[in-house]
Amino acid sequence: MTNNSSRTTNAIETEVLQTWHDNASAWTNAVRTYQIASRRLVTNQAIIDAVLNHQPRKVLDLGCGEGWLAGQLAAKGLLVTGIDAIAELTDAAQQRYGEKAEFITLPYDQVPTALARQKFDLIVCNFSLLGNESVAKLLQSLPPLLNEAGVMLIQTLHPDTAVKADEQSDGWRRETWQGIGKGFRGSAPWYYRTRTSWQTLFDNCHWQLRYCLEPKHPQTLQAASIIFCLESKPRQAI
Ligand SMILES: C[S@@+](CC[C@H](N)C(=O)[O-])C[C@H]1O[C@@H](n2cnc3c(N)ncnc32)[C@H](O)[C@@H]1O
Repeated sequence: MTNNSSRTTNAIETEVLQTWHDNASAWTNAVRTYQIASRRLVTNQAIIDAVLNHQPRKVLDLGCGEGWLAGQLAAKGLLVTGIDAIAELTDAAQQRYGEKAEFITLPYDQVPTALARQKFDLIVCNFSLLGNESVAKLLQSLPPLLNEAGVMLIQTLHPDTAVKADEQSDGWRRETWQGIGKGFRGSAPWYYRTRTSWQTLFDNCHWQLRYCLEPKHPQTLQAASIIFCLESKPRQAI
Protein backbone atom coordinates (compact mmCIF):
# COMPACT_ATOMS: atom_id res chain seq x y z
CA MET A 1 0.00 0.00 0.00
CA THR A 2 1.34 3.44 -0.82
CA ASN A 3 0.42 7.00 0.12
CA ASN A 4 -1.46 9.00 -2.48
CA SER A 5 -2.09 12.57 -1.49
CA SER A 6 -1.50 14.32 -4.81
CA ARG A 7 -4.83 13.40 -6.44
CA THR A 8 -7.81 15.67 -5.91
CA THR A 9 -10.47 14.29 -3.60
CA ASN A 10 -13.19 14.13 -6.24
CA ALA A 11 -11.02 12.28 -8.72
CA ILE A 12 -9.97 9.72 -6.18
CA GLU A 13 -13.50 9.22 -4.83
CA THR A 14 -14.59 8.52 -8.43
CA GLU A 15 -11.67 6.16 -8.89
CA VAL A 16 -12.89 4.04 -5.97
CA LEU A 17 -15.91 2.89 -7.95
CA GLN A 18 -14.01 2.62 -11.24
CA THR A 19 -11.59 0.24 -9.52
CA TRP A 20 -14.37 -2.00 -8.27
CA HIS A 21 -15.93 -1.95 -11.73
CA ASP A 22 -12.61 -3.01 -13.29
CA ASN A 23 -11.98 -5.74 -10.73
CA ALA A 24 -15.48 -7.11 -10.18
CA SER A 25 -14.81 -10.48 -11.70
CA ALA A 26 -11.43 -10.99 -10.00
CA TRP A 27 -12.99 -9.94 -6.68
CA THR A 28 -15.91 -12.34 -7.09
CA ASN A 29 -13.47 -15.16 -7.76
CA ALA A 30 -11.23 -14.18 -4.79
CA VAL A 31 -14.16 -14.12 -2.35
CA ARG A 32 -15.80 -17.28 -3.63
CA THR A 33 -12.59 -19.30 -3.58
CA TYR A 34 -11.64 -18.01 -0.10
CA GLN A 35 -8.35 -16.45 -1.23
CA ILE A 36 -8.26 -13.87 1.58
CA ALA A 37 -6.93 -15.67 4.65
CA SER A 38 -8.12 -13.11 7.23
CA ARG A 39 -11.67 -13.44 5.90
CA ARG A 40 -11.51 -17.23 5.89
CA LEU A 41 -10.03 -17.41 9.39
CA VAL A 42 -11.64 -14.50 11.21
CA THR A 43 -13.59 -11.66 9.72
CA ASN A 44 -16.37 -13.49 7.81
CA GLN A 45 -17.59 -15.32 10.88
CA ALA A 46 -17.02 -12.25 13.07
CA ILE A 47 -19.44 -10.11 11.07
CA ILE A 48 -22.02 -12.91 10.75
CA ASP A 49 -21.95 -13.39 14.53
CA ALA A 50 -22.09 -9.66 15.18
CA VAL A 51 -25.18 -9.28 12.99
CA LEU A 52 -26.98 -12.33 14.40
CA ASN A 53 -26.27 -11.18 17.95
CA HIS A 54 -28.71 -8.30 17.38
CA GLN A 55 -31.46 -10.66 16.19
CA PRO A 56 -32.52 -8.36 13.35
CA ARG A 57 -35.37 -9.27 11.04
CA LYS A 58 -34.61 -6.86 8.20
CA VAL A 59 -31.01 -6.11 7.19
CA LEU A 60 -29.44 -3.73 4.68
CA ASP A 61 -26.02 -4.90 3.41
CA LEU A 62 -24.39 -1.76 2.02
CA GLY A 63 -21.59 -2.39 -0.47
CA CYS A 64 -22.58 -6.06 -0.62
CA GLY A 65 -20.12 -6.95 -3.38
CA GLU A 66 -20.83 -10.42 -4.82
CA GLY A 67 -23.34 -11.03 -2.05
CA TRP A 68 -21.77 -13.63 0.25
CA LEU A 69 -22.84 -11.94 3.52
CA ALA A 70 -26.38 -11.24 2.35
CA GLY A 71 -26.57 -14.87 1.23
CA GLN A 72 -25.36 -16.19 4.59
CA LEU A 73 -27.76 -14.00 6.56
CA ALA A 74 -30.69 -14.82 4.30
CA ALA A 75 -29.94 -18.52 4.81
CA LYS A 76 -30.56 -17.90 8.53
CA GLY A 77 -34.02 -16.55 7.73
CA LEU A 78 -33.26 -12.80 7.74
CA LEU A 79 -34.79 -10.51 5.13
CA VAL A 80 -31.77 -9.00 3.42
CA THR A 81 -31.34 -6.27 0.82
CA GLY A 82 -27.87 -5.98 -0.68
CA ILE A 83 -26.80 -2.77 -2.39
CA ASP A 84 -23.74 -2.18 -4.51
CA ALA A 85 -22.90 0.31 -7.25
CA ILE A 86 -21.28 -2.30 -9.48
CA ALA A 87 -23.77 -4.16 -11.66
CA GLU A 88 -21.40 -7.04 -12.34
CA LEU A 89 -21.23 -7.68 -8.58
CA THR A 90 -24.97 -7.41 -7.92
CA ASP A 91 -25.60 -9.63 -10.97
CA ALA A 92 -23.27 -12.25 -9.51
CA ALA A 93 -25.04 -11.86 -6.15
CA GLN A 94 -28.44 -12.19 -7.78
CA GLN A 95 -27.41 -15.32 -9.67
CA ARG A 96 -26.08 -17.11 -6.60
CA TYR A 97 -28.25 -15.80 -3.77
CA GLY A 98 -31.18 -14.11 -5.54
CA GLU A 99 -33.74 -16.67 -4.42
CA LYS A 100 -33.10 -15.79 -0.78
CA ALA A 101 -32.07 -12.13 -0.78
CA GLU A 102 -32.80 -9.00 -2.79
CA PHE A 103 -29.98 -7.16 -4.62
CA ILE A 104 -30.10 -3.64 -6.06
CA THR A 105 -27.48 -1.85 -8.13
CA LEU A 106 -27.10 1.63 -6.63
CA PRO A 107 -24.32 4.02 -5.60
CA TYR A 108 -24.47 5.05 -1.94
CA ASP A 109 -25.60 8.60 -2.69
CA GLN A 110 -28.84 7.25 -4.20
CA VAL A 111 -29.65 4.87 -1.35
CA PRO A 112 -31.62 7.22 0.97
CA THR A 113 -34.00 8.27 -1.82
CA ALA A 114 -34.37 4.83 -3.38
CA LEU A 115 -35.10 3.17 -0.02
CA ALA A 116 -37.01 6.08 1.55
CA ARG A 117 -40.09 3.95 2.26
CA GLN A 118 -38.15 1.20 3.99
CA LYS A 119 -36.93 0.71 7.56
CA PHE A 120 -34.26 -1.79 8.58
CA ASP A 121 -33.35 -3.26 11.96
CA LEU A 122 -29.69 -3.34 11.07
CA ILE A 123 -27.40 -1.85 8.45
CA VAL A 124 -24.11 -3.64 7.84
CA CYS A 125 -21.09 -2.31 5.94
CA ASN A 126 -18.49 -5.06 5.60
CA PHE A 127 -15.21 -3.56 4.39
CA SER A 128 -17.28 -1.35 2.13
CA LEU A 129 -16.68 2.18 3.48
CA LEU A 130 -13.69 3.11 1.38
CA GLY A 131 -13.98 6.83 0.68
CA ASN A 132 -13.48 10.05 2.62
CA GLU A 133 -16.15 12.74 2.13
CA SER A 134 -18.46 10.22 0.43
CA VAL A 135 -18.49 8.12 3.60
CA ALA A 136 -19.33 11.13 5.77
CA LYS A 137 -22.24 11.98 3.43
CA LEU A 138 -23.44 8.39 3.50
CA LEU A 139 -23.36 8.16 7.30
CA GLN A 140 -25.30 11.40 7.61
CA SER A 141 -27.97 10.10 5.25
CA LEU A 142 -28.65 6.72 6.85
CA PRO A 143 -30.54 7.34 10.14
CA PRO A 144 -33.98 7.59 8.46
CA LEU A 145 -33.52 4.04 7.13
CA LEU A 146 -33.21 2.52 10.61
CA ASN A 147 -35.96 1.49 12.98
CA GLU A 148 -35.89 3.25 16.33
CA ALA A 149 -33.85 0.53 18.04
CA GLY A 150 -31.84 -0.19 14.91
CA VAL A 151 -28.05 -0.31 14.75
CA MET A 152 -25.34 -0.06 12.14
CA LEU A 153 -22.33 -2.39 12.08
CA ILE A 154 -19.19 -1.35 10.25
CA GLN A 155 -16.38 -3.86 9.83
CA THR A 156 -13.17 -2.30 8.53
CA LEU A 157 -9.41 -2.70 8.58
CA HIS A 158 -8.08 -2.20 12.09
CA PRO A 159 -6.46 1.26 12.39
CA ASP A 160 -3.58 -0.15 14.48
CA THR A 161 -2.66 -2.98 12.13
CA ALA A 162 -3.78 -1.90 8.64
CA VAL A 163 -0.72 0.29 8.10
CA LYS A 164 2.69 0.58 9.72
CA ALA A 165 2.92 2.49 13.02
CA ASP A 166 4.73 5.44 11.43
CA GLU A 167 2.07 5.74 8.67
CA GLN A 168 -0.91 6.02 10.98
CA SER A 169 -2.30 9.37 9.93
CA ASP A 170 -5.48 10.01 7.94
CA GLY A 171 -5.15 9.86 4.18
CA TRP A 172 -5.60 7.88 1.01
CA ARG A 173 -3.84 4.54 0.61
CA ARG A 174 -3.77 1.95 -2.15
CA GLU A 175 -4.59 -1.74 -1.96
CA THR A 176 -2.35 -3.60 -4.38
CA TRP A 177 -4.30 -6.88 -4.17
CA GLN A 178 -1.22 -8.86 -3.23
CA GLY A 179 -1.79 -12.46 -2.24
CA ILE A 180 -5.53 -12.51 -2.91
CA GLY A 181 -5.71 -14.23 -6.27
CA LYS A 182 -5.38 -13.57 -9.96
CA GLY A 183 -6.83 -11.17 -12.48
CA PHE A 184 -6.75 -7.90 -10.52
CA ARG A 185 -5.88 -4.67 -12.35
CA GLY A 186 -4.33 -1.47 -11.00
CA SER A 187 -4.67 -0.65 -7.32
CA ALA A 188 -7.68 0.23 -5.19
CA PRO A 189 -7.81 3.56 -3.32
CA TRP A 190 -9.13 3.55 0.24
CA TYR A 191 -9.11 6.20 2.91
CA TYR A 192 -7.25 5.36 6.13
CA ARG A 193 -8.58 6.81 9.40
CA THR A 194 -7.07 6.55 12.84
CA ARG A 195 -9.35 5.28 15.55
CA THR A 196 -9.78 8.83 16.82
CA SER A 197 -10.78 9.96 13.33
CA TRP A 198 -13.41 7.23 13.06
CA GLN A 199 -14.80 8.46 16.39
CA THR A 200 -14.80 12.08 15.13
CA LEU A 201 -16.54 10.97 11.94
CA PHE A 202 -19.25 9.20 13.95
CA ASP A 203 -19.70 12.26 16.18
CA ASN A 204 -19.91 14.63 13.21
CA CYS A 205 -22.43 12.39 11.47
CA HIS A 206 -24.63 12.01 14.59
CA TRP A 207 -23.82 8.39 15.38
CA GLN A 208 -23.02 7.11 18.85
CA LEU A 209 -20.59 4.26 19.32
CA ARG A 210 -22.32 1.55 21.38
CA TYR A 211 -19.38 -0.89 21.39
CA CYS A 212 -16.58 -2.13 19.24
CA LEU A 213 -15.13 -5.60 18.62
CA GLU A 214 -11.58 -6.44 17.62
CA PRO A 215 -11.54 -9.99 16.26
CA LYS A 216 -8.08 -11.51 16.52
CA HIS A 217 -6.19 -13.47 13.89
CA PRO A 218 -5.67 -16.95 15.41
CA GLN A 219 -2.07 -17.18 14.22
CA THR A 220 -0.66 -13.66 14.63
CA LEU A 221 -2.97 -12.84 17.56
CA GLN A 222 -3.18 -9.32 16.12
CA ALA A 223 -6.54 -7.64 15.56
CA ALA A 224 -7.70 -8.76 12.10
CA SER A 225 -10.31 -5.99 11.87
CA ILE A 226 -12.47 -3.69 13.92
CA ILE A 227 -16.26 -3.81 14.08
CA PHE A 228 -18.03 -0.65 15.21
CA CYS A 229 -21.60 -0.91 16.45
CA LEU A 230 -23.39 2.43 16.16
CA GLU A 231 -26.76 3.85 17.00
CA SER A 232 -28.19 7.03 15.62
CA LYS A 233 -28.03 9.96 18.09
CA PRO A 234 -31.31 11.75 18.60
CA ARG A 235 -31.03 15.22 17.00
CA GLN A 236 -31.31 18.09 19.47
CA ALA A 237 -34.54 20.05 19.10
CA ILE A 238 -33.70 23.62 18.04
C1 LIG B 1 -14.05 -4.61 -0.30
S1 LIG B 1 -15.54 -4.78 -1.20
C2 LIG B 1 -16.55 -5.57 0.07
C3 LIG B 1 -17.72 -6.28 -0.53
C4 LIG B 1 -18.56 -7.06 0.49
N1 LIG B 1 -19.11 -6.21 1.52
C5 LIG B 1 -17.76 -8.19 1.08
O1 LIG B 1 -17.66 -8.26 2.31
O2 LIG B 1 -17.24 -9.02 0.31
C6 LIG B 1 -16.17 -3.09 -1.21
C7 LIG B 1 -17.51 -2.97 -1.92
O3 LIG B 1 -18.04 -1.66 -1.67
C8 LIG B 1 -18.68 -1.23 -2.86
N2 LIG B 1 -18.74 0.24 -2.84
C9 LIG B 1 -17.73 1.08 -2.53
N3 LIG B 1 -18.12 2.37 -2.66
C10 LIG B 1 -19.42 2.33 -3.06
C11 LIG B 1 -20.39 3.33 -3.36
N4 LIG B 1 -20.09 4.64 -3.30
N5 LIG B 1 -21.63 2.95 -3.71
C12 LIG B 1 -21.94 1.62 -3.77
N6 LIG B 1 -21.07 0.61 -3.53
C13 LIG B 1 -19.81 0.96 -3.17
C14 LIG B 1 -17.77 -1.75 -3.96
O4 LIG B 1 -18.40 -1.77 -5.21
C15 LIG B 1 -17.40 -3.12 -3.43
O5 LIG B 1 -18.27 -4.10 -3.86
